[in-house]
Amino acid sequence: MESETVAVKVKVGSEGRPALTVIPKHVAIIMDGNGRWAKKRFLPRVEGHRNGAKSVRSTVEEARRLGVRYLTLFAFSTENWRRPSDEVGGLMQLFVRHLESELDVLLKNGVRLRAMGDIDRLPEGVRDLLKRNEEKTKHLDGMDLILAVSYGGRDEVVQAMKKIGRAIKAGEVDPESITEEMVSSSLYLPDVPDPDLLIRTSDETRISNFLLWQLAYAEIVVTSVLWPDFTTDEFHRCLHVFAGRNRRFGRTQEQIDGK
Ligand code: IPE
Ligand code: IPE
Ligand code: MG
Repeated sequence: MESETVAVKVKVGSEGRPALTVIPKHVAIIMDGNGRWAKKRFLPRVEGHRNGAKSVRSTVEEARRLGVRYLTLFAFSTENWRRPSDEVGGLMQLFVRHLESELDVLLKNGVRLRAMGDIDRLPEGVRDLLKRNEEKTKHLDGMDLILAVSYGGRDEVVQAMKKIGRAIKAGEVDPESITEEMVSSSLYLPDVPDPDLLIRTSDETRISNFLLWQLAYAEIVVTSVLWPDFTTDEFHRCLHVFAGRNRRFGRTQEQIDGK
């Protein structure tokens, strides 16, 4: 559970001033507020999603530049399937456009794309492009960009339980020997360490079914900025807040300080 991060120190700007900041190994982001961004401008919601795509690009490039090793972006939840069909359709079209246009950016930056979620539920066009981009970037090791699409934390736990259940049925696993590690390794991406930092934009202070198991000890930073307005400066500010946090993992501060 504790991050094995060898912390990298780089200079980042905070309120215009450069500051030394510890970069988390895994950053997860709930990209929220696209609808409100559009509403404020009397635009259709899909315009908010379109502008949100720009923040995705700048955040990916900056995370890579700063040395974040894993960046997980919540792009579409299992619950988002309940939205009006024109919004869901618009989002799927945007995913297609984004996956087509961003492949070069991924290749240029040495970023490996990985998808997590109930991918089979996605339209074929989106699924095929996800698979194509995963395939074309699988050799890259600068950063893993994990797109959570059609993703639900409970859904992920259920599929992990099914996997373990099948192993029990086959006589390969004794129920008494189930460990936390076994559950972790039955999730969608077993090799990915738990997020150190969770950022949520647009001031919502909930998890919304994101990475329920993996977020057990993540530091949570909520910003009032709406996702389409999320700049690299705001990203730096969130990283700076993270760097100022004390992570104790259940221990006392004295234990952490070695006193
Ligand atoms: C996040 O923005 C994008 C998705 C959930 C797909 P929203 O669309 O949830 O924006 P708000 O919360 O309505 O402002
Ligand atoms: C969470 O945002 C999902 C994504 C950002 C993809 P929502 O806007 O769907 O969350 P709730 O429903 O307000 O909790
Ligand atoms: Mg929302």
